[in-house]
Amino acid sequence: MNTVVVYSSQTGFTKKYAEWIAEELGCEAVSLNDEPRFDAEGFDVVVLGGWFHAGGLMGKKWLVRQRAAHPNTRFVVFAVGATPTEWTDMVDEALTRELPSPDFDDVERFYLRGGFAYERLSTPNKLAMKLFFKMQEKNAATDPRAAEMLSGMRGGFDGTDRASIAPVIASARSHACVTPPAPSGVGPSRSS
Ligand SMILES: Cc1cc2nc3c(=O)[nH]c(=O)nc-3n(C[C@H](O)[C@H](O)[C@H](O)COP(=O)(O)O)c2cc1C
Repeated sequence: MNTVVVYSSQTGFTKKYAEWIAEELGCEAVSLNDEPRFDAEGFDVVVLGGWFHAGGLMGKKWLVRQRAAHPNTRFVVFAVGATPTEWTDMVDEALTRELPSPDFDDVERFYLRGGFAYERLSTPNKLAMKLFFKMQEKNAATDPRAAEMLSGMRGGFDGTDRASIAPVIASARSHACVTPPAPSGVGPSRSS
C-alpha cells in the first residue's frame, strides 16, 4: 500500500504519534513544519496528524488543498490536544466543527490525547497560554473541567499513549485495501 503520514507539531506530541503510526504502517512520516509544500501525489492513503490550537486543527489548510488536488486519495485525520479523551462532547464538537458534514464525511477522524509543554511553545503561543490561564483561573471556581485543565497545563504533562493509535492504524489499513473502480472499458473483460 502506498501510504504516508503527514503531520504538524510544535512541541512534539503529534510528532511522536506520527512516528508511531508510520512505524506501524511501515511508511514515512513527513513534517509539514519542515516541508510545508509536501504534495500527496502518488499516495493512496494519507494519514494527517494535527494539533488543536484554540479549537482549530493545525494542518487543515493543507488537508483542504490536498483533498481538492487528489480526489482519489483517502485521508485519515488524527487530531491531538490537551483535552482529556473522556470529554467526548468537547472532542466531538471540535472535530465536527473543523471537519464538518457533508464536506468531510469521507475523512475518518480520531482524537488522540497529546500533552502540554509550555517551555517548548513559540513566544506568541506562550503569550496566548498566559491569557488562557488567566481566563481559566476565573472559571476554575465554578467549572471543574476548567480547574482540571488549568492544573494539568500549569504542571505540564505527557498524555500520549501508543495503544491509542490502534483505530488510526485499522482505518488506514482498511482504506488501503479498497481498490477504486476501473474506468469503464479499461477493466478486465467479463467472460460470458
Ligand atoms: C495556544 C494554544 C491553544 C491550544 N488550544 C487547544 C484546544 O483548543 N484544544 C485542546 O485540546 N488543546 C489545545 N492546546 C493544547 C495542544 O493541542 C497540545 O499541547 C498538543 O499536544 C500540542 O501538540 P504538539 O506537541 O504536536 O505541538 C492548545 C495549546 C496552545 C499552545
